Amino acid sequence: MRKVCNKECIFVKAGGSWITFKDKPFSIDYSALKSLANIMLRVQDRVSIVLGHGGGSFAHPVVNLFSKSDQSIALVQCNKATRTLNNLVSSFLAEAGVRAFSMQTSAMISCIDGVLETFAKPVIKVLSKGLIPIVYGDCIACSDSYKVASTEEVFKALSKHIKPSRIVFLERVSGVYTKDPLVYRDAELIPVISRHNYDEVKSLLTPSPVIDVTGGMLSKIEHSLELSRAMGIKVIVVSGFDEESSINAIVSGESYRGTTIVW
Ligand SMILES: Nc1ncnc2c1ncn2[C@@H]1O[C@H](COP(=O)(O)OP(=O)(O)OP(=O)(O)O)[C@@H](O)[C@H]1O
Ligand SMILES: [Mg+2]
Repeated sequence: MRKVCNKECIFVKAGGSWITFKDKPFSIDYSALKSLANIMLRVQDRVSIVLGHGGGSFAHPVVNLFSKSDQSIALVQCNKATRTLNNLVSSFLAEAGVRAFSMQTSAMISCIDGVLETFAKPVIKVLSKGLIPIVYGDCIACSDSYKVASTEEVFKALSKHIKPSRIVFLERVSGVYTKDPLVYRDAELIPVISRHNYDEVKSLLTPSPVIDVTGGMLSKIEHSLELSRAMGIKVIVVSGFDEESSINAIVSGESYRGTTIVW
């Protein structure tokens, strides 16, 4: 694969459960966006970033509501929800001084028999100018129906064209725990997840109380392990509110409080 980043290339996802309040439709957590802006301002001159964000309280409830509707109605409503959130996030970052450049994700990914194919040239060009392309979890028109692609799947599709040195998930929680830490106070942080303890971790994870149409924390771990195996990289889950850990994870991949997912 051709080297496309000027500096070390890092994929960063701002979790939808971090930047929005996932249990309140169409809500934004502006304190999370402020932290995201602080983090991006401190890393944007040190590494090349592809930033992704999840659909959070915008996409998940809408996709769930229209899941039984005609597919054209579902696609239109999902598209409206995801681009509204992306516009808010991208504009907030740009106004804070981040070199943010929004990339309409459903316009650069196609879906053939459920498999995503990316037209990555615009992202590569934007990266080469030292800007931060911003992609997001989106609804993609498919040959038969449509696919709700999580940011994790968008990263997977993009990684066929741009090889990241690592992937960092910025979440509301500080990593993967023995149980949902937002529900259970005695949840304990799992420092490393690999193929050796994956089965054990899987047995601990229960579905989240909030709607996540793309599979929640468990599917995040599965996609992460697959990306780690395919690319020989590590994937890090930290709290986006812990700005020092987030910056260290992004810039060096060392010295953070969180979970490391490595094949
Ligand atoms: N064992 C666990 N450890 C950590 N978080 C957990 C666990 N079980 C459930 N969760 C929940 O998973 C959430 C993160 O996964 P989820 O897919 O809901 O968010 P996200 O990927 O940030 O959102 P989006 O899909 O909108 O981007 C956390 O905020 C937490 O509440
Ligand atoms: Mg998710």
